[in-house]
Amino acid sequence: MSQIVVIGSCSMDLVVTSDKRPNAGETVLGESFKTVPGGKGANQAVASARLGADVYMIGRVGDDAYGQDILNNLHAQGVRTTYMKPVTDMESGTAHIILAEGDNSIVVVKGANEEVTPDYVKDALHSIDDISIVLIQQEIPEETVEAVCAICSEKEIPVILNPAPARKVKQEVLNQVAYMTPNEHEAALIFDGLTTEEALRQYPNKLLITEGKNGVRFFDGTQEVLVPGYPVKAVDTTGAGDTFNGALAVALTEGKSLYDALLFANLAASISVTKFGAQGGMPTREELERAK
Ligand code: RIB
Repeated sequence: MSQIVVIGSCSMDLVVTSDKRPNAGETVLGESFKTVPGGKGANQAVASARLGADVYMIGRVGDDAYGQDILNNLHAQGVRTTYMKPVTDMESGTAHIILAEGDNSIVVVKGANEEVTPDYVKDALHSIDDISIVLIQQEIPEETVEAVCAICSEKEIPVILNPAPARKVKQEVLNQVAYMTPNEHEAALIFDGLTTEEALRQYPNKLLITEGKNGVRFFDGTQEVLVPGYPVKAVDTTGAGDTFNGALAVALTEGKSLYDALLFANLAASISVTKFGAQGGMPTREELERAK
């Protein structure tokens, strides 16, 4: 069976819910506090696994209690953890999340995710056979993302780069990846100086700009296409982008057309926001089929 390989961050999300987001220098009282597994890499791996794919996660955790919890969760979700080596004397990555006023604000402390180095990833990548697609994000060092894109381009393995959180991406990387999935803010930073329309036209069937519940926009070589989202009542939008990317990898691996793969990914993302936590609402394959 062909493998989806996710390379990226694995963190513990420390989530506070509050009516109000505090301003600088202000203290407010919150309603609840929960710790749940997160990190863009782990979220995308779990999203793909729930939809029935065979998934390897390549990443690092610390040698702390969070690290063990993160590994246990990946196991429980059916993600392969052969290449999830704990880092000695280091804390796991954490994301400090405030859910307030219908949206989230997040501070990420990378911790062991900094140790997802080019060498670490190269060894793992060369040991996995029959990779159908690689999914990567930007909560790990920039040089690792660049090394992965170069190796995969040489091996003709398609890469989906989810350029989140936002940072500039080298032209070489843009050329090497098969798909790129920024949201509007990330796209504005990466394609600074170009309008959305110009950027889309430069990267037909490759640049897929997500617009939240509105859907996803791309240029098909002839015209701009908006693949619509599905309206739902959102409880927590954390991890919606990750669900989208994980589902997109599954659909492309299964040979769906780009348009159908994006519809599938939009549906998965819309279901994911109906429950609390980055991974809490990610649908299983059955749940997604039922929602069609
Ligand atoms: O994309 C959502 C994720 O971003 C959260 O789970 C949190 O870990 C942050 O990194």
